[in-house]
Amino acid sequence: MEKISISPEWVFSPQPMYIIGTKNEDGTPNFCIITWINFSFDKTPHLMMTVGGTKLTKTNILRDKKFSANMITEDNIWLADYFGNTNGEEGKKDAVPYSYQWGENVDVPIIDECHWSYECEVTRIIELDGAHLFLAAIKNIQIDKEYESMNMKKIDLRKIRPAIYAPYNYFSVGDKLGEMGEWKKHLASGE
Ligand SMILES: Cc1cc2nc3c(=O)[nH]c(=O)nc-3n(C[C@H](O)[C@H](O)[C@H](O)COP(=O)(O)O)c2cc1C
Repeated sequence: MEKISISPEWVFSPQPMYIIGTKNEDGTPNFCIITWINFSFDKTPHLMMTVGGTKLTKTNILRDKKFSANMITEDNIWLADYFGNTNGEEGKKDAVPYSYQWGENVDVPIIDECHWSYECEVTRIIELDGAHLFLAAIKNIQIDKEYESMNMKKIDLRKIRPAIYAPYNYFSVGDKLGEMGEWKKHLASGE
């Protein structure tokens, strides 16, 4: 395969998306979208998240050291799009219908419309050049009761239907390619 080089400004990674829930100073909830998220493990599961610039979400996290990360799926993508395109400093995000509860283990708002939510406590903050990188311990996971009997060791993404972000577009996941460790079945030299 012949390769070409492109500028680092075109960095791209197919990204899952999360609605980030935080508590405002007056006790009300605020939500936005963050796609610069990944997961890590250090004795217990952690989440790594980069929040850029100045925004209410960042102000709330820097003050309270906690947030929820609610997975965005095909059925709540437009609610998420609303949260990600409105600025919390400009007023309450109540122009569209949605509901929320407060977390079981961490005092953060959890969106009812999301099927898979993490309650997180920030353990480390790295201040970058304008952005902040938050490392957070996952203290509880709330999932849709409909997933109760799902095989957690072999999750079928087609049942979860996560939304995937590629610059300025939203996508759904496609077909299953196969199972881990099956390479011998698929490569010529595998026999
Ligand atoms: C699809 C999408 C992805 C986004 N991803 C990020 C992100 O990874 N990091 C970030 O700092 N802002 C991201 N944003 C921007 C925030 O969601 C946006 O600035 C929002 O208005 C902040 O809300 P707040 O002021 O209530 O905190 C994204 C927005 C959209 C629409």
